[in-house]
Order: sequence, then structure tokens, then C-alpha cells
Amino acid sequence: MINYKDLGLVNTREMFKKAMNGGYAIPAFNFNNMEQMQAIIQAAVETKSPVILQVSSGARKYANQTILRYMAEGAVAYAKELGCPNPQIVLHLDHGDTLELCKSCIDMGFSSVMIDGSHLPYDENVALTKKVVDYAHQHDITVEGELGVLAGVEDDVVAEHHTYTRPEEVVDFVTKTGCDSLAISIGTSHGANKFKPEQCTRDAEGRLVPPPLAFNILEGVEKELPGFPIVLHGSSSVPQEDVDTINKYGGALKDAIGIPEEQLRKAAKSAVCKINIDSDSRLAMTAAIRKVFSEKPAEFDPRKYLGPAREAAKALYMHKIKNVLGSENKL
Ligand code: G3H
Ligand code: 13P
Ligand code: ZN
Repeated sequence: MINYKDLGLVNTREMFKKAMNGGYAIPAFNFNNMEQMQAIIQAAVETKSPVILQVSSGARKYANQTILRYMAEGAVAYAKELGCPNPQIVLHLDHGDTLELCKSCIDMGFSSVMIDGSHLPYDENVALTKKVVDYAHQHDITVEGELGVLAGVEDDVVAEHHTYTRPEEVVDFVTKTGCDSLAISIGTSHGANKFKPEQCTRDAEGRLVPPPLAFNILEGVEKELPGFPIVLHGSSSVPQEDVDTINKYGGALKDAIGIPEEQLRKAAKSAVCKINIDSDSRLAMTAAIRKVFSEKPAEFDPRKYLGPAREAAKALYMHKIKNVLGSENKL
């Protein structure tokens, strides 16, 4: 059993309390490789922001859970080397789907886990989440549960339509499970195509304009659970400059669209304490790599394209922290 505290990591409890009181949200960035980890830590240190490094099942398969755990340990040392004596870094399992997976991450040094039983019947979601909480809390590890279903792909589970969280269920769920935060469904979804064109309107230039998030559901949840930390998944904004760069240099992204940043700014000021962003980093990195490949076709040193990709990801993370989530200078 490796205790996350020995690795210099923290759980989300204090972080979320401060975010709730301060009217901002903690960035939760997915990482799969060294460049993403370096970019996240550089951005967090330079902005003096707390940060959640999150690992999906896909990331575990791609990079290996043990390596990712050592990378998180390295992330703490790296932040200190960059001049941040007391970094606030969480290592979080994103979309855990079984008790065994959550236990394995907890035993290996993760400081926070998500158990995503949102696709299960309500009672089964409650039972599974409670089992994870019972184990995690023995080790002072925080647990994120989920109620409501996001449209799109959630780790191999594809939901055609979202089902909004039912505010009338949240008190019962949180009381019965003891979870520390709750992911809810208010119209966000995973990936770079969050809405179908027919769900959107168009602006004067013909660009798609997405429908607004269901803030009434969020307000309903806040009323039922005052002061309880809420999580938003699927919160990439899908910057059109990156989509255009990707397509200009040979990509084929069609109708890519995300959540407008002003809606995330509004959410960050509410009980939403954690905002998950993965696709925007993928887009920024891909745009940078495609540009290098197109402009310098003779280049074959990975550092010459992964370096610019890392810079692009860092710029994206800094922008989110400073201009959208409001977590700058909150260490
Ligand atoms: O929730 C989804 C995250 O973007 C992780 O995606 O399962 O492809 O790593 P992934
Ligand atoms: P995006 O696909 O919008 O980046 O969402 C990421 C996410 O929710 C990870 O859990
Ligand atoms: Zn998610």
C-alpha cells in the first residue's frame, strides 16, 4: 500500500472547500504522457494554481498505471524544482467503473477516485459508490460519484442522449453513499463533437452556436445540497482556431463544437468546484503537430513536434486557469 501523502499529493477535500468559498473551480486535466504532465505542471506552477491530474482507464491501458503513478510523484518534485515549495496536486482516477479498479488505484498512491456508476440503475449506482467510499475513506481518499448520464462516449460506453441529473435524487445519493463530490449532467458531453448541428443555431458567419447548458438543473442541485462540491465533465470548449489549424494541415474534423467559455466561467462561480478538460488539450497538441509535419516534412525528431505540442498544451492550460476557471493565485 502506497500512501499518496508520502508522495506529496493531496486529496480534494480542502481544495474544494476553498474553491467553493472562493467562487472558482479546480482544473482537472487528463494526462497520458510526459509532455502533457510537464505542460500541466508548468502551467499550474506559473499561475500558482492547484491542479487535478487525472487518469482514465484508457490512459492506464496506454501508459501503464505504475508509470503514471511515478509520473505523478515526479510531478510533485518537478513543481518544487520549478519554484513552488508547496504544490497542491491531486492524482485522480477518472471514470473508474469497478470497485477493484478503484482499490487498485487507491493502493497505488492515487489521492482521489471517481466511481462512475451513472449508467447503472439508481440502486446499483448507490451500492457500488458506497463500497468505493467505504474503502477510500479508510485511507483518507476522496471519492467523486456521478448521477445523470452525459451524451457521447464515456470510456467505451456510448450514450446517444444525455439524461439530466434529477435534483430530487441528489440528497438521497450523497447521504447513502457518503461521496465527497458529485458529477452531474447538465448538457455537457465528452469529446470534440458535443452537439449535433441540428441541436445548434448558426451565427452570421455560419458557425455553429451550441444550445445553453441547463443551469436550472445546476441551481436545483445547489438548492438541495448547499455547499456540496459539484463536478462538470465534458467541459472542453473546442477552440475553433485549433479545429481550423488541424483541418488546414490535412485534418478532417467535422462539426467539432464545445462548451462556450462564458458558460464555464458562470459554472465555476457556482458550486461547481472541478471542471474536466481533456479534448481541448488533444486539439491543441494535434494542431501543433500537424503544423510542424506540414511545414517541415523532413523533420523526424519527436522532440521537434512534441515540443511545440507541449507548448501549445501549456498555453491552453494557462488560459483555462487564468481566464475561465479562476484558479490562478489560489495556492
Ligand atoms: O472522459 C473521458 C476522457 O476524455 C478520457 O478519455 O478514455 O479516451 O482516455 P479516454
Ligand atoms: P472533454 O472531452 O470535454 O475534454 O471532457 C473530459 C472529461 O470529462 C474527462 O473526464
Ligand atoms: Zn468525464
